[in-house]
Amino acid sequence: MKPEFPPGNMPGHVGIIMDGNGRWAEMKGLPRVEGHRRGAERAKEIIEASKEFGVKALTLYAFSLENWQRPKAEVAMIMKLLEVYLRREMYEFVKEGIHFRAAGDLNRLPQGVRNLVAQAEALTSACKNMVLTAAISYGGRDEIVRAVKKALQSGASPQDISESSFADLLDTKGLPDPDLIIRTSGEKRISNFLLWQSAYSELYFTDTLWPEFGREELLGALRDYQVRDRRFGAVKL
Ligand code: IPE
Ligand code: IPE
Ligand code: MG
Repeated sequence: MKPEFPPGNMPGHVGIIMDGNGRWAEMKGLPRVEGHRRGAERAKEIIEASKEFGVKALTLYAFSLENWQRPKAEVAMIMKLLEVYLRREMYEFVKEGIHFRAAGDLNRLPQGVRNLVAQAEALTSACKNMVLTAAISYGGRDEIVRAVKKALQSGASPQDISESSFADLLDTKGLPDPDLIIRTSGEKRISNFLLWQSAYSELYFTDTLWPEFGREELLGALRDYQVRDRRFGAVKL
């Protein structure tokens, strides 16, 4: 079979800001929640494709801390969708060898969602094929502030703090930094996603709305990444 990729130079960790559900629905004359429903199906497809393409860590931005400010009814529908999704997909994750984790201020989530997150994390903790992190109720600044609080609570002194010890206090502990961050829907901003971890991430923006972002476009983003020259501030000799 013809390989879909030139070998090598694959991103180990891909982050995706799944944006554009609402606009997709509005364009079709549907309620916004239909966009979120369709978006959840896309997430399923992209999780499978990422695993198939050999991505070792995938982080999906599903709900930001700022998203709590949306109308109550929309937030409630998103929480319901999360619940239904997790209840159904956690067994799929086990089958596929996907280790599920969550990042964010989970205390703000409804108890039902929190329980399912804990259950999915426990159920998949030994899975080795790919780490899937769902950023829910997540804000990058909030994550950093929570990490500072953890450091202070542990009684750490200045000499105990290094970039790597600090990274271990973040929700993404143990994961490599994202090599590639994709944002759909044409917006060219980070919107509080993985602020610390994205210091040297490659960024890929596409106008495609998340409910239309499929396997082929993921492949395109990965190929685009493969030919980039990452210098990390250094000069090649
Ligand atoms: C992304 O889609 C999903 C969430 C933020 C929960 P949006 O709901 O932001 O869709 P647009 O940006 O309004 O189109
Ligand atoms: C970012 O999208 C958050 C998620 C995709 C979960 P938003 O739609 O909330 O971001 P802004 O408001 O356009 O920056
Ligand atoms: Mg949006």
